[in-house]
Amino acid sequence: MTISPRVFSGMQPTGSLHLGNYLGAMVNWIKMQETHECIYCVVDLHAITVWQDPAELRTAIRQVTAAYIAAGLDPKKSILFNQSQVSAHAELAWVFNCVARLGWLNRMTQFKEKAGKDREQASVGLYAYPNLMAADILAYRATHVPVGEDQKQHLELARDIAQKFNNDFRESIIAQGFADGVFFPQPEPVITGPATRVMSLRDGTKKMSKSDPSDLSRINLTDDADTIAKKIQKAKTDADPIPTEDGGFQGRPEAENLVGIYAALADQTVETVLKDFGGQQFSAFKKALAEVATDRLGRIGGEARRLMADSAAIDAVLADGSARARTIAQPVIDHVKDIAGLIRS
Ligand code: TYM
Repeated sequence: MTISPRVFSGMQPTGSLHLGNYLGAMVNWIKMQETHECIYCVVDLHAITVWQDPAELRTAIRQVTAAYIAAGLDPKKSILFNQSQVSAHAELAWVFNCVARLGWLNRMTQFKEKAGKDREQASVGLYAYPNLMAADILAYRATHVPVGEDQKQHLELARDIAQKFNNDFRESIIAQGFADGVFFPQPEPVITGPATRVMSLRDGTKKMSKSDPSDLSRINLTDDADTIAKKIQKAKTDADPIPTEDGGFQGRPEAENLVGIYAALADQTVETVLKDFGGQQFSAFKKALAEVATDRLGRIGGEARRLMADSAAIDAVLADGSARARTIAQPVIDHVKDIAGLIRS
Protein backbone atom coordinates (compact mmCIF):
# COMPACT_ATOMS: atom_id res chain seq x y z
CA MET A 1 0.00 0.00 0.00
CA THR A 2 2.21 2.81 -1.24
CA ILE A 3 1.30 6.49 -1.13
CA SER A 4 0.52 7.77 -4.63
CA PRO A 5 -0.65 11.22 -5.72
CA ARG A 6 -4.33 11.67 -4.97
CA VAL A 7 -6.49 14.78 -4.73
CA PHE A 8 -9.23 15.32 -2.14
CA SER A 9 -11.38 18.37 -1.50
CA GLY A 10 -14.88 19.29 -0.38
CA MET A 11 -17.53 21.97 0.05
CA GLN A 12 -20.26 22.41 2.61
CA PRO A 13 -23.88 22.13 1.48
CA THR A 14 -25.03 25.21 3.34
CA GLY A 15 -26.69 27.68 0.99
CA SER A 16 -25.79 27.86 -2.67
CA LEU A 17 -22.23 27.93 -3.94
CA HIS A 18 -20.79 31.32 -4.87
CA LEU A 19 -18.08 32.87 -6.97
CA GLY A 20 -15.52 32.48 -4.14
CA ASN A 21 -16.08 28.73 -4.01
CA TYR A 22 -15.81 28.55 -7.79
CA LEU A 23 -12.70 30.68 -8.33
CA GLY A 24 -10.96 29.83 -5.07
CA ALA A 25 -11.32 26.07 -5.32
CA MET A 26 -13.41 24.56 -8.07
CA VAL A 27 -11.46 25.93 -11.01
CA ASN A 28 -8.43 24.04 -9.70
CA TRP A 29 -10.52 20.92 -9.03
CA ILE A 30 -11.59 20.88 -12.67
CA LYS A 31 -8.01 21.31 -13.90
CA MET A 32 -6.65 18.61 -11.57
CA GLN A 33 -9.16 16.03 -12.70
CA GLU A 34 -7.27 15.92 -16.03
CA THR A 35 -3.97 14.99 -14.36
CA HIS A 36 -4.79 13.27 -11.05
CA GLU A 37 -7.02 10.75 -9.38
CA CYS A 38 -9.57 13.08 -7.73
CA ILE A 39 -12.13 12.68 -4.96
CA TYR A 40 -14.59 15.54 -4.44
CA CYS A 41 -16.94 15.47 -1.50
CA VAL A 42 -20.10 17.25 -0.40
CA VAL A 43 -19.31 17.55 3.29
CA ASP A 44 -22.75 17.13 4.82
CA LEU A 45 -21.40 16.06 8.24
CA HIS A 46 -19.55 19.37 8.44
CA ALA A 47 -22.78 21.21 7.57
CA ILE A 48 -24.59 19.83 10.63
CA THR A 49 -22.05 21.34 13.02
CA VAL A 50 -24.59 24.15 12.99
CA TRP A 51 -28.30 23.27 12.93
CA GLN A 52 -29.73 22.66 9.46
CA ASP A 53 -33.33 22.22 8.45
CA PRO A 54 -33.43 18.55 7.29
CA ALA A 55 -35.45 19.19 4.12
CA GLU A 56 -33.24 22.16 3.16
CA LEU A 57 -30.10 20.15 3.84
CA ARG A 58 -31.25 17.35 1.54
CA THR A 59 -31.91 19.89 -1.21
CA ALA A 60 -28.57 21.65 -0.62
CA ILE A 61 -26.63 18.36 -0.89
CA ARG A 62 -28.22 17.75 -4.29
CA GLN A 63 -27.72 21.37 -5.36
CA VAL A 64 -24.01 21.30 -4.58
CA THR A 65 -23.67 18.00 -6.44
CA ALA A 66 -25.51 19.51 -9.42
CA ALA A 67 -23.23 22.55 -9.30
CA TYR A 68 -20.13 20.32 -9.23
CA ILE A 69 -21.26 18.55 -12.39
CA ALA A 70 -22.51 21.73 -14.10
CA ALA A 71 -19.19 23.47 -13.46
CA GLY A 72 -17.29 20.68 -15.21
CA LEU A 73 -16.56 17.87 -12.75
CA ASP A 74 -17.10 14.59 -14.50
CA PRO A 75 -18.51 11.85 -12.24
CA LYS A 76 -16.87 9.24 -14.46
CA LYS A 77 -13.40 10.74 -14.11
CA SER A 78 -13.62 11.93 -10.50
CA ILE A 79 -15.34 10.42 -7.49
CA LEU A 80 -18.25 12.69 -6.45
CA PHE A 81 -20.07 11.74 -3.25
CA ASN A 82 -21.48 12.98 0.04
CA GLN A 83 -19.45 12.45 3.17
CA SER A 84 -22.11 10.82 5.39
CA GLN A 85 -22.42 7.83 3.04
CA VAL A 86 -18.86 6.74 3.79
CA SER A 87 -18.56 5.86 7.48
CA ALA A 88 -14.74 5.92 7.36
CA HIS A 89 -14.85 9.74 7.70
CA ALA A 90 -16.61 9.65 11.07
CA GLU A 91 -14.57 6.68 12.31
CA LEU A 92 -11.23 8.24 11.48
CA ALA A 93 -12.40 11.59 12.88
CA TRP A 94 -12.88 9.90 16.27
CA VAL A 95 -9.33 8.53 16.17
CA PHE A 96 -8.10 12.02 15.28
CA ASN A 97 -10.12 13.52 18.16
CA CYS A 98 -7.81 11.41 20.30
CA VAL A 99 -4.64 12.44 18.41
CA ALA A 100 -5.18 16.22 18.07
CA ARG A 101 -4.55 18.40 21.12
CA LEU A 102 -6.97 20.90 22.62
CA GLY A 103 -4.31 23.58 22.28
CA TRP A 104 -4.19 23.03 18.51
CA LEU A 105 -7.95 23.45 18.11
CA ASN A 106 -7.97 26.48 20.39
CA ARG A 107 -5.86 28.28 17.80
CA MET A 108 -8.33 27.78 14.91
CA THR A 109 -9.46 31.21 13.78
CA GLN A 110 -12.48 29.90 11.88
CA PHE A 111 -13.96 28.40 15.07
CA LYS A 112 -13.52 31.73 16.83
CA GLU A 113 -15.25 33.53 13.95
CA LYS A 114 -18.10 31.05 13.64
CA ALA A 115 -18.73 30.54 17.35
CA GLY A 116 -18.66 34.30 17.95
CA LYS A 117 -19.04 35.68 21.45
CA ASP A 118 -21.28 32.92 22.76
CA ARG A 119 -18.71 30.14 22.58
CA GLU A 120 -20.31 28.07 25.35
CA GLN A 121 -23.31 27.58 23.08
CA ALA A 122 -21.35 26.32 20.05
CA SER A 123 -21.66 22.61 19.28
CA VAL A 124 -18.82 20.26 20.14
CA GLY A 125 -18.92 19.32 16.45
CA LEU A 126 -18.09 22.88 15.41
CA TYR A 127 -15.05 22.79 17.69
CA ALA A 128 -13.85 19.38 16.43
CA TYR A 129 -14.65 20.35 12.81
CA PRO A 130 -10.97 20.50 11.70
CA ASN A 131 -10.36 16.94 12.95
CA LEU A 132 -13.16 15.68 10.69
CA MET A 133 -11.62 17.65 7.84
CA ALA A 134 -8.26 15.95 8.47
CA ALA A 135 -10.09 12.61 8.46
CA ASP A 136 -11.74 13.44 5.10
CA ILE A 137 -8.36 13.93 3.51
CA LEU A 138 -6.41 11.19 5.26
CA ALA A 139 -9.07 8.46 4.91
CA TYR A 140 -7.85 8.43 1.29
CA ARG A 141 -4.22 9.19 2.19
CA ALA A 142 -4.66 12.12 -0.19
CA THR A 143 -1.57 14.12 -1.08
CA HIS A 144 -3.03 17.29 -2.67
CA VAL A 145 -5.87 19.46 -1.40
CA PRO A 146 -7.04 22.32 -3.67
CA VAL A 147 -8.77 24.97 -1.53
CA GLY A 148 -9.11 28.72 -1.07
CA GLU A 149 -6.83 30.72 1.23
CA ASP A 150 -9.26 30.52 4.18
CA GLN A 151 -8.64 26.77 4.59
CA LYS A 152 -4.88 27.10 5.00
CA GLN A 153 -4.88 26.86 8.79
CA HIS A 154 -7.13 23.77 8.74
CA LEU A 155 -4.72 22.10 6.34
CA GLU A 156 -1.76 22.87 8.56
CA LEU A 157 -3.66 21.12 11.34
CA ALA A 158 -4.28 18.10 9.09
CA ARG A 159 -0.54 17.92 8.47
CA ASP A 160 0.17 18.10 12.22
CA ILE A 161 -2.36 15.33 12.89
CA ALA A 162 -0.82 13.11 10.18
CA GLN A 163 2.62 13.65 11.64
CA LYS A 164 1.55 13.04 15.25
CA PHE A 165 -0.25 9.83 14.28
CA ASN A 166 2.88 8.63 12.44
CA ASN A 167 5.07 9.53 15.45
CA ASP A 168 2.76 8.18 18.18
CA PHE A 169 2.35 4.83 16.42
CA ARG A 170 5.71 4.57 14.68
CA GLU A 171 6.62 1.12 15.98
CA SER A 172 3.19 -0.29 15.32
CA ILE A 173 3.17 1.21 11.82
CA ILE A 174 6.47 -0.56 11.09
CA ALA A 175 5.15 -3.81 12.63
CA GLN A 176 2.14 -3.58 10.28
CA GLY A 177 4.50 -3.67 7.31
CA PHE A 178 5.12 0.04 6.58
CA ALA A 179 8.89 -0.22 6.74
CA ASP A 180 9.57 3.55 6.72
CA GLY A 181 7.20 4.13 9.64
CA VAL A 182 5.07 6.52 7.59
CA PHE A 183 1.39 5.65 7.31
CA PHE A 184 -0.18 9.02 6.52
CA PRO A 185 1.29 11.42 3.93
CA GLN A 186 1.62 15.15 4.62
CA PRO A 187 -1.20 16.57 2.49
CA GLU A 188 -0.12 19.58 0.40
CA PRO A 189 -2.46 22.57 0.16
CA VAL A 190 -2.97 23.71 -3.44
CA ILE A 191 -3.86 27.39 -3.14
CA THR A 192 -3.18 28.97 -6.52
CA GLY A 193 -4.68 31.30 -9.12
CA PRO A 194 -5.57 34.99 -9.19
CA ALA A 195 -8.58 34.59 -6.85
CA THR A 196 -7.63 32.45 -3.84
CA ARG A 197 -9.51 34.91 -1.63
CA VAL A 198 -12.52 36.50 -3.31
CA MET A 199 -13.90 39.38 -1.26
CA SER A 200 -17.46 40.61 -0.67
CA LEU A 201 -18.86 42.88 -3.39
CA ARG A 202 -20.11 45.23 -0.64
CA ASP A 203 -16.96 45.39 1.49
CA GLY A 204 -13.53 44.61 0.07
CA THR A 205 -12.12 43.80 3.50
CA LYS A 206 -14.56 40.92 4.11
CA LYS A 207 -14.45 37.48 2.49
CA MET A 208 -17.26 36.61 0.06
CA SER A 209 -19.29 34.14 2.08
CA LYS A 210 -22.53 32.14 2.13
CA SER A 211 -23.33 33.45 5.56
CA ASP A 212 -23.26 37.17 4.69
CA PRO A 213 -26.82 38.43 5.27
CA SER A 214 -26.65 40.59 2.12
CA ASP A 215 -27.20 38.63 -1.08
CA LEU A 216 -25.69 41.60 -2.94
CA SER A 217 -22.34 40.73 -1.34
CA ARG A 218 -21.88 37.61 -3.45
CA ILE A 219 -22.56 36.13 -6.88
CA ASN A 220 -24.21 32.74 -6.52
CA LEU A 221 -23.60 30.03 -9.10
CA THR A 222 -27.39 29.84 -9.43
CA ASP A 223 -27.88 33.57 -10.20
CA ASP A 224 -29.29 34.36 -13.64
CA ALA A 225 -27.65 36.84 -16.02
CA ASP A 226 -29.75 39.83 -14.93
CA THR A 227 -29.01 39.24 -11.24
CA ILE A 228 -25.27 38.88 -11.92
CA ALA A 229 -25.24 42.13 -13.93
CA LYS A 230 -27.20 43.95 -11.22
CA LYS A 231 -24.89 42.77 -8.43
CA ILE A 232 -21.78 43.83 -10.35
CA GLN A 233 -23.31 47.19 -11.14
CA LYS A 234 -24.07 47.72 -7.43
CA ALA A 235 -20.65 46.47 -6.30
CA LYS A 236 -18.82 48.98 -4.12
CA THR A 237 -15.95 50.89 -5.80
CA ASP A 238 -14.21 54.20 -5.30
CA ALA A 239 -14.16 57.36 -7.40
CA ASP A 240 -10.65 56.86 -8.82
CA PRO A 241 -9.93 55.25 -12.17
CA ILE A 242 -8.55 51.72 -12.44
CA PRO A 243 -4.81 51.76 -11.65
CA THR A 244 -2.29 51.13 -14.39
CA GLU A 245 -0.11 48.80 -12.35
CA ASP A 246 -0.45 46.17 -9.60
CA GLY A 247 1.07 48.44 -6.93
CA GLY A 248 -1.74 50.96 -7.47
CA PHE A 249 -4.30 49.12 -5.33
CA GLN A 250 -3.10 50.42 -1.97
CA GLY A 251 -6.08 51.22 0.24
CA ARG A 252 -8.46 50.15 -2.55
CA PRO A 253 -9.56 46.60 -1.63
CA GLU A 254 -12.80 46.77 -3.66
CA ALA A 255 -10.94 47.79 -6.82
CA GLU A 256 -8.39 45.06 -6.31
CA ASN A 257 -11.12 42.47 -5.77
CA LEU A 258 -13.06 43.33 -8.94
CA VAL A 259 -9.91 43.32 -11.08
CA GLY A 260 -8.88 39.96 -9.56
CA ILE A 261 -12.31 38.51 -10.32
CA TYR A 262 -12.13 39.73 -13.91
CA ALA A 263 -8.66 38.22 -14.35
CA ALA A 264 -9.78 34.86 -12.97
CA LEU A 265 -12.98 34.71 -15.04
CA ALA A 266 -11.26 35.80 -18.25
CA ASP A 267 -8.26 33.50 -17.67
CA GLN A 268 -5.88 36.45 -17.75
CA THR A 269 -3.24 37.82 -15.41
CA VAL A 270 -4.00 40.92 -13.33
CA GLU A 271 -1.18 42.63 -15.27
CA THR A 272 -2.97 42.07 -18.60
CA VAL A 273 -6.27 43.34 -17.19
CA LEU A 274 -4.56 46.49 -15.94
CA LYS A 275 -2.91 46.98 -19.32
CA ASP A 276 -6.35 46.82 -20.98
CA PHE A 277 -8.40 48.80 -18.43
CA GLY A 278 -5.86 50.92 -16.49
CA GLY A 279 -6.89 54.61 -16.42
CA GLN A 280 -10.56 53.87 -17.23
CA GLN A 281 -13.53 54.51 -14.95
CA PHE A 282 -15.23 51.65 -13.14
CA SER A 283 -18.51 52.14 -14.99
CA ALA A 284 -17.00 50.85 -18.25
CA PHE A 285 -15.04 48.11 -16.51
CA LYS A 286 -18.13 46.84 -14.70
CA LYS A 287 -19.91 46.35 -18.03
CA ALA A 288 -17.03 44.20 -19.28
CA LEU A 289 -16.93 42.30 -15.99
CA ALA A 290 -20.66 41.60 -16.13
CA GLU A 291 -20.17 40.21 -19.62
CA VAL A 292 -17.40 37.73 -18.71
CA ALA A 293 -19.25 36.77 -15.52
CA THR A 294 -22.59 36.06 -17.18
CA ASP A 295 -20.87 34.29 -20.03
CA ARG A 296 -19.08 31.88 -17.73
CA LEU A 297 -21.49 31.52 -14.81
CA GLY A 298 -24.83 31.78 -16.63
CA ARG A 299 -24.11 28.48 -18.34
CA ILE A 300 -23.22 26.75 -15.05
CA GLY A 301 -26.38 28.01 -13.33
CA GLY A 302 -28.59 26.90 -16.22
CA GLU A 303 -27.04 23.45 -16.34
CA ALA A 304 -27.29 23.05 -12.54
CA ARG A 305 -30.99 23.92 -12.67
CA ARG A 306 -31.52 21.37 -15.46
CA LEU A 307 -29.75 18.66 -13.42
CA MET A 308 -31.79 19.49 -10.29
CA ALA A 309 -34.97 18.52 -12.12
CA ASP A 310 -33.91 14.85 -11.85
CA SER A 311 -33.01 14.25 -8.22
CA ALA A 312 -32.93 10.46 -8.70
CA ALA A 313 -30.09 10.88 -11.21
CA ILE A 314 -28.16 13.05 -8.74
CA ASP A 315 -28.70 10.51 -5.95
CA ALA A 316 -27.40 7.79 -8.31
CA VAL A 317 -24.19 9.78 -8.89
CA LEU A 318 -23.74 10.09 -5.11
CA ALA A 319 -24.44 6.40 -4.54
CA ASP A 320 -21.92 5.36 -7.20
CA GLY A 321 -19.30 7.83 -5.92
CA SER A 322 -19.81 6.67 -2.32
CA ALA A 323 -19.31 3.02 -3.30
CA ARG A 324 -16.07 3.90 -5.09
CA ALA A 325 -14.92 6.06 -2.17
CA ARG A 326 -15.59 3.22 0.29
CA THR A 327 -13.32 0.84 -1.61
CA ILE A 328 -10.42 3.27 -1.09
CA ALA A 329 -11.19 4.35 2.48
CA GLN A 330 -12.05 0.95 3.99
CA PRO A 331 -8.54 -0.58 3.77
CA VAL A 332 -7.13 2.65 5.25
CA ILE A 333 -9.51 2.44 8.22
CA ASP A 334 -8.69 -1.25 8.64
CA HIS A 335 -5.00 -0.41 8.81
CA VAL A 336 -5.63 2.42 11.28
CA LYS A 337 -7.49 0.00 13.56
CA ASP A 338 -4.70 -2.56 13.34
CA ILE A 339 -2.07 0.11 13.98
CA ALA A 340 -3.96 1.49 17.01
CA GLY A 341 -4.54 -1.98 18.49
CA LEU A 342 -8.30 -2.16 17.94
CA ILE A 343 -9.58 -5.69 17.21
CA ARG A 344 -11.70 -6.17 14.09
CA SER A 345 -13.20 -9.27 12.55
P1 TYM B 1 -16.39 25.85 2.31
O1 TYM B 1 -17.59 25.03 2.04
O2 TYM B 1 -16.51 27.04 3.21
O3 TYM B 1 -15.78 26.37 0.95
C1 TYM B 1 -15.48 25.49 -0.11
C2 TYM B 1 -14.23 25.94 -0.82
O4 TYM B 1 -14.37 27.27 -1.32
C3 TYM B 1 -13.28 28.07 -0.86
N1 TYM B 1 -13.78 29.44 -0.60
C4 TYM B 1 -13.23 30.54 -1.10
N2 TYM B 1 -12.17 30.72 -1.91
C5 TYM B 1 -11.86 32.00 -2.26
N3 TYM B 1 -12.59 33.08 -1.84
C6 TYM B 1 -13.65 32.95 -1.03
N4 TYM B 1 -14.35 34.01 -0.64
C7 TYM B 1 -14.02 31.63 -0.62
N5 TYM B 1 -15.02 31.12 0.16
C8 TYM B 1 -14.84 29.78 0.16
C9 TYM B 1 -12.82 27.41 0.42
O5 TYM B 1 -11.49 27.74 0.72
C10 TYM B 1 -13.00 25.94 0.10
O6 TYM B 1 -11.88 25.45 -0.63
N6 TYM B 1 -13.83 23.15 5.62
C11 TYM B 1 -14.13 23.29 4.22
C12 TYM B 1 -14.72 22.06 3.57
C13 TYM B 1 -13.98 20.80 3.77
C14 TYM B 1 -12.78 20.42 3.12
C15 TYM B 1 -12.47 19.12 3.61
C16 TYM B 1 -11.95 21.04 2.18
C17 TYM B 1 -14.33 19.78 4.61
N7 TYM B 1 -13.42 18.76 4.49
C18 TYM B 1 -11.34 18.44 3.18
C19 TYM B 1 -10.81 20.35 1.75
C20 TYM B 1 -10.51 19.07 2.25
C21 TYM B 1 -15.12 24.42 4.06
O7 TYM B 1 -15.87 24.75 4.95
O8 TYM B 1 -15.18 24.92 2.81
